[in-house]
Amino acid sequence: MALRTIREIGDEVLTKTAKEVEGMTPRTKKLIADMLDTMYEAEGVGLAAPQVGILKRIVTIDVGDGPIVLINPVIQETGGEQTGPEGCLSVPGKQGIVTRPNEVTVKALDENMEEQVITGTELLARAICHECDHLDGKLYVELVEGELTDVTDEEE
Ligand code: NI
Repeated sequence: MALRTIREIGDEVLTKTAKEVEGMTPRTKKLIADMLDTMYEAEGVGLAAPQVGILKRIVTIDVGDGPIVLINPVIQETGGEQTGPEGCLSVPGKQGIVTRPNEVTVKALDENMEEQVITGTELLARAICHECDHLDGKLYVELVEGELTDVTDEEE
């Protein structure tokens, strides 16, 4: 198990556009394994490679149904709307209300560079949108309706 340092808001790497992954390498495999370890250790539901300082289009997500790895994800379809609290491991201790699609279909490669299409609703849809935004250098704080608020222990 190897943990990577999670970059926090204010770090320039979080504002940059990540590059497509062109082929699986031992280095990229290790990055994905480390991202999963780092995400679980931080008790997050998602992590994007730029959050650990690597500008590659890789996302890990687990909303409680097991790990999902999305490489070069492209959102293909969205539907509906959900409005609710959202947080980010790069903005520790804070949350804000964000409106996202309630259903999202994403096409991506998996760890074997095989194409996969995943449709998620509710929290998974929110996580897919949030993590894909990281790959384009966008943080959820730009989308917050109202103010960022402190997360209390109870709400975590
Ligand atoms: Ni985030």
